[in-house]
Amino acid sequence: MFNKMISPRSSLLAMAAVVMLLPVTGFAAGAGAVLQPANNDLSNLPSLQRGARNFVNYCMGCHSAKYVRYNRLGADLSISDDQMINNLMFAAEKTTETMTVAMPADDAARWFGQAPPDLSLVARSLGTDHIYTFLRTFYVEEGSPTGANNLVLANASMPNVLWSLQGEQRLVVETDAEGHKNSRLELVSPGSLSPEEFDQFVRDIVNFLDYVGEPMQLERQRLGGWVIAFLLVFGVFAYLLKEEIWTDIEK
Ligand code: HEC
Repeated sequence: MFNKMISPRSSLLAMAAVVMLLPVTGFAAGAGAVLQPANNDLSNLPSLQRGARNFVNYCMGCHSAKYVRYNRLGADLSISDDQMINNLMFAAEKTTETMTVAMPADDAARWFGQAPPDLSLVARSLGTDHIYTFLRTFYVEEGSPTGANNLVLANASMPNVLWSLQGEQRLVVETDAEGHKNSRLELVSPGSLSPEEFDQFVRDIVNFLDYVGEPMQLERQRLGGWVIAFLLVFGVFAYLLKEEIWTDIEK
């Protein structure tokens, strides 16, 4: 009897453990590099605005974010219509349009071997750490079709579009005393940004893509703040009320 009761429970626990481990092992196998934490912050509005600008200037030549409407972006990120039209809308005429790319998908596939994916949901499908690490781990590889390779996505058909900002990196493979191979990237020629500035530049893009993947996140955070504030204020009143009632009773 005792045995019968314990076994389904322990097998359930075992199953839960397997389910919890699955995404972790799947992730580790999928990524060639150790992912670095993006540490992006959705409540940082200037970062989101810079991210939108960086995305339009450096990514939208190839990638769309077709579920994002410019006017929604403006409302969420406090960007005025004028700012939007002058600084962000190179590929659209009206603020009600979505962030699409002028490049036809067929041509893109022919040029790159692979059509650049729409990035609306990429932060949800790949995760922010993946994108952050991906954008920072391009390195020079002579003989590859793009002249570059990537630690996260081996033989990526995306060119290293941020090289002028980051500078050029090379892959250094070292073998330690025990025969383990360690690879790391080394900056061989500096770009126009310092390594810290470049990390922030990429973090802003990742932050923007994180927002784009789930615009409700911003609202939820704002709402969360109000709920906490309400509970605190309510708590004070509840406490005062309790004191008031009990002074009468204790008398
Ligand atoms: C010149 C065209 C081009 C530009 C500009 C470009 N990309 Fe890409 N990107 C591609 C192509 C092509 C792929 C598909 C790569 C593959 O699957 O091999 C890709 C893939 C990706 C992926 C998926 C990576 C993965 O691991 O599957 C992400 C994320 C991405 N790009 C982000 C960006 C961001 C952010 C920018 C702007 C900084 C950008 N791209 C600029 C062409 C481009």
